[in-house]
Amino acid sequence: MKRWLIWVVLGMSLVSLSAQGEYGDVVLNRYADKAGVRPVVFPHWFHRLRFTCNVCHAEGGFKMRAGSNDITMGEIVDGKFCGMCHNGEIAWSAEFCHRCHSGRPGLAGGFYGSQDPSGPSGGGDFYQRRH
Ligand code: HEC
Ligand code: HEC
Ligand code: HEC
Repeated sequence: MKRWLIWVVLGMSLVSLSAQGEYGDVVLNRYADKAGVRPVVFPHWFHRLRFTCNVCHAEGGFKMRAGSNDITMGEIVDGKFCGMCHNGEIAWSAEFCHRCHSGRPGLAGGFYGSQDPSGPSGGGDFYQRRH
């Protein structure tokens, strides 16, 4: 491969990585609002630092597209999705509703935050965290 081509390919993969927004938070709101609870704010970066992608995106069954996962509390309590860790053993359990349901009511599902590969810059005032 010619040298310039390598740089083009590298450049494109960096752009597509950041465009996919791995560095911010993902808001999950397929059901939450309709069910009368706050949308879920999932800190992707926080989890990425602690686990490999495969733990969630292969074994955990999370599809790699914001908004594409169909998740109910029943499944979480049964140990699926977030519940494979938030079970009181690997991480705090599903009783702590507000730690996950921390988004401002009406907040649309999707990716929020920095697309800067150097890391997260916080989600600004898009949502309210528990702190
Ligand atoms: C570890 C994170 C987490 C915790 C803790 C948690 N939830 Fe959820 N919950 C989710 C996710 C993710 C969804 C799916 C959100 C969506 O797509 O709308 C969800 C969805 C829901 C829904 C809508 C879907 C359904 O199953 O009816 C309700 C209602 C709900 N949660 C209530 C609660 C209550 C009440 C608690 C505390 C007893 C709680 N949640 C704790 C992550 C969590
Ligand atoms: C603790 C679980 C977990 C880990 C670890 C994890 N992810 Fe994710 N990822 C998620 C969840 C949950 C979503 C949001 C899915 C949704 O909204 O339905 C997501 C969404 C994504 C998206 C879609 C973003 C968008 O804007 O559509 C990409 C891309 C992604 N992850 C890549 C990665 C990569 C690459 C790694 C490893 C470096 C990784 N994830 C590690 C759980 C995880
Ligand atoms: C592969 C394991 C794993 C999965 C899957 C997972 N988490 Fe976590 N999560 C953790 C661990 C470990 C912590 C740190 C717990 C602690 O500090 O005690 C954590 C912490 C958090 C925090 C607090 C972050 C902070 O800033 O302190 C939130 C919010 C959270 N998880 C939400 C979720 C939601 C929502 C899902 C599902 C969409 C999910 N998690 C799936 C392991 C996981």
